[in-house]
Amino acid sequence: MPEDDLVDELAPLVGSVREATWILEHTRDPDVARSLARRRAAGEPLQYLLGTWPFRDLELVVDRRALIPRPETEQVVERALAAWRRTRPGADGLVVADLGTGTGAIGLSLAIELAQEAAIDQVLLVDLAPEALDLAGENAERLGVLVDRCLGSWHEAIPEGRRGGVHLLVANPPYVAEAEEAGLAIELSHEPRGALIAADAADGTPGFADVAEIIDGALGSLAPGGILVIEMAEHQVEVALARASTVGLVDLEAFADLAGHPRGIVGRAP
Ligand SMILES: C[S@@+](CC[C@H](N)C(=O)[O-])C[C@H]1O[C@@H](n2cnc3c(N)ncnc32)[C@H](O)[C@@H]1O
Repeated sequence: MPEDDLVDELAPLVGSVREATWILEHTRDPDVARSLARRRAAGEPLQYLLGTWPFRDLELVVDRRALIPRPETEQVVERALAAWRRTRPGADGLVVADLGTGTGAIGLSLAIELAQEAAIDQVLLVDLAPEALDLAGENAERLGVLVDRCLGSWHEAIPEGRRGGVHLLVANPPYVAEAEEAGLAIELSHEPRGALIAADAADGTPGFADVAEIIDGALGSLAPGGILVIEMAEHQVEVALARASTVGLVDLEAFADLAGHPRGIVGRAP
């Protein structure tokens, strides 16, 4: 069957000519394409169907083991690079830790993009989900980046010898509140719940428990002058700045995503 006819057949199923075309760029087998289109019609994210997805300069393997990297998270990398370049902590032996690494998107981007500017000593990819760490490891291997994977919860997972020695600490933790879960798009139900949903913090801020834990423990993980960059929900940014200031982080600033919405904070250990 000519490809144009297949686009016409699949587009109504998947809801757009663009998505039908992406599927057909991925496979030329009409039966495989039809099966992917049916899965898409049932709400499975296109990224999982295609199996790879771009993040900055990388083409990452993506599947149900981890969250699909979002375009707004590219800002975390951008902000981490900018903040690091200002003071260059650990430039001759850089230790990077990506907390809640998922596919490895943030940590691997930083490792690759900083390789020309710093001697990278170690890249730690942390996750509580073993299957996400497997996927991050596969991506690291495909990209030829040497990493150490750490299974466990946030700062506790950082090897003892590196506590107080991380120069660049980045995180995109879960930050959607349980109360918002029912209203999420169907696509999100295909992604790991533990990558999206967070408990409310003890101070009552919805979905803020993980962000709060990362901020509270940051000084225990960071080297002097080390940098923290963390993504969160818009409504959490002001609370996060205040909390980070209380724990003793300095040079605090908020950053916005490409749509101009507050999306995270940057801070530094004194
Ligand atoms: C929002 S996803 C971010 C994935 C990836 N960093 C990205 O930006 O695409 C959050 C990640 O944090 C992990 N996670 C959740 N709770 C955690 C915890 N207590 N300690 C470490 N990782 C955790 C999840 O398994 C998930 O991979």
